Amino acid sequence: MGTESNIKLIDEKGLRIDGRSPEELRPIKIEVDVLNRADGSALIEWGGNKILAAVYGPREAYPKHNQDINKAIVKARYNMEAYSVDERKRPGPDRRSMEISKVLSEALETAIMVEQFPRAQIDVFIEVMQADAGTRIAGLTAASVALAAAGIPMRDFVAGCTAGKVDGQIVLDLCKEEDNFGQADLPIAIMPRSGRIVLLQMDGDLTVEEVEKATGMIMGAIKKIAELQRNALLTKFSAVETEGGE
Ligand code: CDP
Repeated sequence: MGTESNIKLIDEKGLRIDGRSPEELRPIKIEVDVLNRADGSALIEWGGNKILAAVYGPREAYPKHNQDINKAIVKARYNMEAYSVDERKRPGPDRRSMEISKVLSEALETAIMVEQFPRAQIDVFIEVMQADAGTRIAGLTAASVALAAAGIPMRDFVAGCTAGKVDGQIVLDLCKEEDNFGQADLPIAIMPRSGRIVLLQMDGDLTVEEVEKATGMIMGAIKKIAELQRNALLTKFSAVETEGGE
């Protein structure tokens, strides 16, 4: 973010580097329960991102001194594979993945009814297999579906999107070139029914008016994303029901 360059990211017709209009989302596909051993899982393809979310639990928190007698602890681990980006990423945790794991854990904990599972732990593994910007939000969106697939009681889905500033314009859902060479990136995730914000970060500078415009675009996109989450679960579970009834 913020690396100034001469690359033109928006053309004379107002179209972006990948041909999208300013308020257009990249294609999103969500598949539920792709892993047999996990309690719930989801694979999301969001533009060039390919991210797997796997949920285990609630199970007894270990080591025991980590247990909370009032609620379950939610441990999201965001991991970017070495092969997920153009230049090989050094495997293992780094400052960025630790920060993202923390904000995603907090966002999911707000949505999960953690008070129903004292002393327990819910593990959420988020594996980025292919990265193309917006991975924290795409991972969180997939994790929310995986939690629902695991049958973990939640107040609501968590769904999110980013918007940012590219060639001086506010655009929705940045791709990698826009993220790298644009001027700002604003990821937001909410619980769609209440509108409660569970994640909000900002990289770069935006004016108050620009934040308002970006937020408006994000909220519109989140409605569509929440619909995709619901449909992915409905497709999976209505198929299971039909199989069971035969
Ligand atoms: O992915 P997200 O937008 O949530 O986080 P970011 O830190 O703003 O990273 C933006 C993008 O930069 C990632 O999605 C990757 O495509 C890329 N990236 C990379 O190529 N190598 C890294 N070590 C980290 C990020």
